[in-house]
Formats: sequence, structure tokens, C-alpha cells
Amino acid sequence: MCDNFVMKTKIGGLELVDEAAKLLKSGQLVAFATETVYGLGANALDGQAIKKIYEAKGRPSDNPLIVHICDTNMLNMVAKDVPAIAKNLFMHFSPGPLTLVLKRNDKISACVAPNLDTVAVRIPNHPLALELIKKATIPIAAPSANISGSLSPTTAQAVFEDFDGKIQLILDGGTCEVGIESTVLDLTTDIPTILRPGRIKPKDLLAVLPKVLTQTGELLHAKSPGTKYKHYAPKIKCQMAKDIKEAKSMYDDDKNAVIIGSSGFVAACGKRNAISLGDNIDDIEHNYFTTLRIAQEKFDLIILETFYGEEAAAIMDRMKKSCGKI
Ligand code: TXA
Ligand code: MG
Repeated sequence: MCDNFVMKTKIGGLELVDEAAKLLKSGQLVAFATETVYGLGANALDGQAIKKIYEAKGRPSDNPLIVHICDTNMLNMVAKDVPAIAKNLFMHFSPGPLTLVLKRNDKISACVAPNLDTVAVRIPNHPLALELIKKATIPIAAPSANISGSLSPTTAQAVFEDFDGKIQLILDGGTCEVGIESTVLDLTTDIPTILRPGRIKPKDLLAVLPKVLTQTGELLHAKSPGTKYKHYAPKIKCQMAKDIKEAKSMYDDDKNAVIIGSSGFVAACGKRNAISLGDNIDDIEHNYFTTLRIAQEKFDLIILETFYGEEAAAIMDRMKKSCGKI
């Protein structure tokens, strides 16, 4: 009799999740579907189990692994000093194809990121992966489930081709919806930095982050969300006058115009239609929208006084937008 043990690799779905969770907890490897590509998982708390990933894949020992969690409650097991922006990013993009590099918590094995004090974390958006992590109640370290250097697997069959007889179980969740690996974003640098591009694009990140450095070294800035939309526009034409002289030259009785500004500005308008917003910035801000609402019903052209200086930044932002200038 031959006593060489040949491992049989099982492939299945939800019915194998309990078994897969037990295998992980006992230090074995399990491959599982995620929405990006299939992962080759091990218990992230167990250094010996993680070493098996490197062996099975033939992965260079200095290439760190992504740790998968099922919700943000698990984050404290994996990372420490988590910045508020990380929670914000998770809220926006998770579960999903975004991996965040954070400071590593000592509770997980340093083998996930040899020679680094960081950890890459993500919440995969696939019911099988989430169920597996929940059942196992541990974070799962998992690179893509392919032999190092070969194509990433997007089906259970592709995993089987690389790991038949080498792992006990593959959780088959069908063809991966995204099909490329997650975007990796480093949050341990001054400016969040994309280390690997993926489905979540820089423009998506800029909806949450003020700045992002792309993997090509380009620094991108967010406009404040919403600034791209038309804002504060009255129903009638609205123009800025840089001083009283310009206001008077823009004014034309035939155009049914009105000048709107501070009380001093209005006083200098003579007999022209004019409405005062007040004589200090607080009053001017307070009265601005109400006054424009009234003016748009009575007149056909609004001429606004330009205010100068840092104190006037907020009112000028609204006024310029009313004039369609930004
Ligand atoms: O979509 C994915 O991210 C898939 C699925 C299975 O989740 N996983 C995946 O893992 O692509 P892998 O090992 O093939 O790629 C991990 C990437 C590598 O580029 C690695 O260098 C980077 O993440 N990475 C992991 N930990 C890191 C860390 N602490 N600091 C910087 N980069 C890290
Ligand atoms: Mg890979």
C-alpha cells in the first residue's frame, strides 16, 4: 500500500463555508471568491499559516498580503491609530474593491507584511467571502489565489488549475464581478497615495479625500463636492461691479436694473434702484439670499457690489456663483 497522502481539493459554495472556516482556524489554507479576484486565505493571526501562503504561491517573502475583514468592527483587531478618513473611506467604498494601508496592530501576525509596520486591509464585497470571515471570526490574510507571477484567478476553475492537490478547499462564488484586484491606497503617508490602481479610481476617492497622489506621482485635488454644480443663481441676470463707478456704468433704466450692496454703496447710487444689504459682513451675509429673492421678482438685472478681503470670502463665493463666475 502506498502511504503517500494525495490531497483532494474540494470545490463548493455556501454549504462548505463551515468547513472552510474550520480549516482556516486550524491553520490551513482555503481559496475563496471575492468580487475582484479569488483569494488564497490563511488566518491572519497565525504566522505559521501565513507562511504556507508564501510557500504555496512561491511568493517572494517581502511582498506583503492584504488582510480581509467582514466589517469595520474587526478593524481594531488588524490596525491601530486608524485615522477618521479611513473610516470615511470604508463607509463610502466598503464592502468593495478598496484596500487601505494602515498602521498594523500587534494582534495580527507580522508575517502579513514582513519588514513593515503597516497592514493592508479590505472588506470584500462577496457574500461567500463575508460569510467565511464571519464564521471564522478571524481576519483572513489573502493574496490572489494564483502561483506567483501568473494570471490572477477570476473563477474557481482557474484556482483549481494552480492549486489542485495543494489546498483542501475552494469556495466557488462564480466568476468575479470586478475581475481585477482592488485599488490599494496608502493612508500612512502625508498625502493618501495610490500604490496599485484598481476599480476605485482617483476621481472616486476625491469625492471623499481632499488630495490623492496617484501611482504615477501625480497630485490630484478635489473640488469641494458639489462645486461643479450650478449654485445660487437668481432667475435674472446678475453681474459683479468692482466699484461704484462700474456699478453706475452697468446700470441702465431701460434694463430695469437694481444695484445691491452695502449701505454706503447704495447711498452713493443716487436715484437709481438700489437695495442695501447692511453695513457689516454679518448683516450682508444674513440678507443676501432674501434680498436676491425679492429682487428677481421685481427687476431684470442685478448689479452686485464686490467685497474685498478675507472677511468677505464667504459672501464673494456666493455672489460669484450667483453671477455664474465659478
Ligand atoms: O482584490 C484584491 O486585492 C485581491 C483579493 C483577493 O482581495 N488580493 C490581491 O492580493 O490582489 P495580492 O497579494 O495579489 O496583492 C496585494 C497588493 C500587493 O501589491 C502588495 O504589495 C500590496 O497589496 N500590499 C499588501 N500589504 C501592503 C502593505 N502593508 N503596504 C503596502 N502595500 C501592501
Ligand atoms: Mg496578486
